[in-house]
Amino acid sequence: MKRARIAQLAALALAVVLVPFPARRVESQGAPQSVKPVQNGCHLCHAEYVREWRDSHHGLAWTDSLYQAAKDKLPKDQQAKCLPCHIPNPVQVSGPGKIPAVRTKAQDEGVACVSCHQIPVHGKPDDIGTIVGPYPVDQMAKSHPYKHDKSLVDSIALCASCHGIDRDHNQVESWKGSVYEKEKVLCQHCHMPEVKRAIHDKRGAIPREGRKHTWPGARDAGMLKKAATLDVAVEGGKVRVGITNSGAGHNFPGSGEREVVLIVTVTGADGKEAASYREVFDLRTRDNRIKPKERRALEFDAKAATGMVKVRLLYKLTPEWDEAKAAVAAEHEAKF
Ligand code: HEC
Ligand code: HEC
Ligand code: HEC
Ligand code: HEC
Ligand code: HEC
Repeated sequence: MKRARIAQLAALALAVVLVPFPARRVESQGAPQSVKPVQNGCHLCHAEYVREWRDSHHGLAWTDSLYQAAKDKLPKDQQAKCLPCHIPNPVQVSGPGKIPAVRTKAQDEGVACVSCHQIPVHGKPDDIGTIVGPYPVDQMAKSHPYKHDKSLVDSIALCASCHGIDRDHNQVESWKGSVYEKEKVLCQHCHMPEVKRAIHDKRGAIPREGRKHTWPGARDAGMLKKAATLDVAVEGGKVRVGITNSGAGHNFPGSGEREVVLIVTVTGADGKEAASYREVFDLRTRDNRIKPKERRALEFDAKAATGMVKVRLLYKLTPEWDEAKAAVAAEHEAKF
């Protein structure tokens, strides 16, 4: 059982005299590590989480240059609609699955620890409030008030608050009804790798099983390689290309900001380019993204009897980039 060891730790926890959590001033409970502070003091005891999150695109959701540029392009009176998911107030207040309110505090923290974990105390923004987490409360040291929420572990409800609302930023819609939903492969399973590590408190290092707070996505070479596979064949003067969304749990590409570009180049036996083709997959202009596990079949004229065909699948974070800046998601070569 994944969290079976927790029962042993519970006994240890009960043996310790528990001090009520001080609302406004928190002190490190062990293994002090130097990380830049975050609101409500999470860094004091969860330094490793803070370090991972800060480099993730949740930590960067407000300072991110692509986001800031896209927002600033809009007239001032329309920019307000861009704030709720990029500087969200705790999701636990609006309720999972509903769009959060805008946070006015510590905006540079983007999607902050508190956005996903806190039930705040009304009128007391500096109070740590109640922390919602995946472990059963009776198995916890009382470092801060907890509320156990099983849905963090066995549903996508939390993610759906921001990834299932806006048409441009919606991975939930295409995950629904896919083989991943049927087999209960959740967003967390692909985007928050499992990890065993210690959480520190005054008892010392307590081993726990949890998940990394790195959220690899469209900028991660390993995730892009996993997302798509290419197959290529040349028959009867035709180049047949198949693009399969083999590993993304939703449409590929995953959001309306991205473009996937297929480039097919045919070289004849004389070494000269015989033909070249380009197809774009995106939401905005064509709405032709590739569904989970779908194989999209395309056909092109080879324009040569013998030679070589080279196929590349590029991934652009924004349509404004030229192809030189794109990452290679897959490539394939075939002689004919
Ligand atoms: C309902 C929540 C929500 C709202 C509202 C929202 N966003 Fe986002 N945004 C997201 C999510 C989730 C992502 C990351 C996943 C994705 O791209 O689908 C994202 C990513 C982005 C990105 C890509 C950032 C990068 O570097 O990867 C840009 C650009 C962006 N948003 C711009 C905007 C703009 C401009 C607005 C206002 C018109 C806006 N967003 C409103 C949720 C939202
Ligand atoms: C004073 C130290 C301390 C501070 C400050 C602190 N935590 Fe914790 N937290 C702990 C300890 C210790 C545990 C694990 C206890 C255990 O395993 O028995 C824990 C557990 C958790 C859990 C798991 C809870 C569960 O029921 O599954 C979450 C989530 C969490 N903390 C988030 C936060 C966030 C977010 C902040 C900042 C708002 C924060 N913590 C601030 C010490 C702290
Ligand atoms: C409170 C809003 C919110 C919640 C809840 C949320 N996200 Fe996000 N997420 C965002 C925003 C906003 C971005 C994009 C930030 C940017 O790059 O501008 C993002 C980015 C991401 C990315 C990185 C995209 C990339 O290409 O770099 C992944 C992966 C991701 N989220 C997965 C998840 C998962 C899994 C969950 C549920 C455990 C979740 N998110 C919950 C708002 C949220
Ligand atoms: C089977 C594994 C898997 C599951 C399940 C999964 N993803 Fe992904 N996700 C990927 C891969 C692979 C990529 C990289 C390819 C891409 O960007 O489309 C990705 C990309 C992303 C991105 C960045 C996409 C972009 O274009 O900005 C976000 C955000 C994201 N996923 C959120 C989610 C959310 C939310 C869920 C749950 C509804 C989820 N993912 C479920 C594998 C998965
Ligand atoms: C986008 C939402 C999101 C954000 C932001 C976020 N967490 Fe979590 N956190 C989760 C989810 C989902 C889990 C449950 C993972 C699991 O299944 O174990 C979790 C679990 C935890 C746990 C319990 C141990 C574990 O790994 O499961 C701790 C401690 C924790 N988070 C601390 C933090 C801290 C500190 C921050 C800020 C640096 C933070 N979280 C930011 C979604 C988030």
